[in-house]
Amino acid sequence: MQISPKILFGHCYGKFAIPAVNVFTMEQVLGLFCAGERANAPFIVQITPAARDYAHPEMLISMINAAAKIYPKAVYSVHMDHGNEEHAFDAILSNDYNSIMIDASHDNFADNVKRTKAVVKEAHKKGIVVEAELGVLSGVEDDISIDEKLAKYTQPSEVEEFVELTGCDSLAVAVGTSHGAYKFSGGEGIQFQILEDIQRRLPQYPIVLHGGSAVNEQEIKRINKAGGTLREGASGVSPDEIVKSIAYGVCKINIATDTRLLWTRVHREFFRDAPELFDPVIPGKTYMKEYEKFMLEKFNLLGATGTV
Ligand code: G3H
Ligand code: 13P
Ligand code: NA
Ligand code: ZN
Repeated sequence: MQISPKILFGHCYGKFAIPAVNVFTMEQVLGLFCAGERANAPFIVQITPAARDYAHPEMLISMINAAAKIYPKAVYSVHMDHGNEEHAFDAILSNDYNSIMIDASHDNFADNVKRTKAVVKEAHKKGIVVEAELGVLSGVEDDISIDEKLAKYTQPSEVEEFVELTGCDSLAVAVGTSHGAYKFSGGEGIQFQILEDIQRRLPQYPIVLHGGSAVNEQEIKRINKAGGTLREGASGVSPDEIVKSIAYGVCKINIATDTRLLWTRVHREFFRDAPELFDPVIPGKTYMKEYEKFMLEKFNLLGATGTV
């Protein structure tokens, strides 16, 4: 059943968090829906502009709709991740999404407000909810690479005015996480005092954490043992930090990198261990199974298991 994130956030605020996972392929869509149904846990399927370029929006949406038929008990939202205005308006017109992100976080405050407000106005006419972003995360997101020096924490003093002026339904914040496999090269971690300050100013308001991948060290080791050259220092958000953030109003945790690392590990090990084979079905099946297992563990960590 497709459900609005607004309803999900109303249920989970302060108690558990919803994983929002970026999908590019059929194996990911099937693995995600299978896990959601098995765990009785809600989830958000996210599509980035890069995914739309890769697989065509029609293909991605059709795969999601098919998965919903195969796993009829799955409870999920369909979200456009990191859209600009053009992507956002396109998503609103398509009627395929019940949630969109307008990411104008690289603009100055006034322009961010202006762009976000315009998207909110159109989206709300159709009951589509809008996630906006304030602050700048470092790391690699689609084709955009943000230098750590240009990254900026969200300023708590700006959040009330931003939400008030734009009418956005949830807010993605920059509180120390970054996109990709090399988070926290400065070793800082999540800035809980900033999160606390934001929550004080926006009580009961859903906060979104981007860059939520754990970047498991064992996975990195296995990838490199199977021929990968991921550099030392790959690190993600610790499970403890993720869990702790829930009490500060974090309702949605975005995850993409972990599922890519998993894909890389499964396929590298397959090609290393069975160089005589040439069948996409075999590693594809393994990936789906491992993806499902990864999601079941994530639902447990976030407290989402058994909540639907
Ligand atoms: O963070 C998730 C993603 O943005 C997906 O896109 O490889 O294309 O960065 P990417
Ligand atoms: P990760 O790079 O931690 O997977 O972050 C994903 C994300 O924020 C998608 O919007
Ligand atoms: Na993304
Ligand atoms: Zn993101």
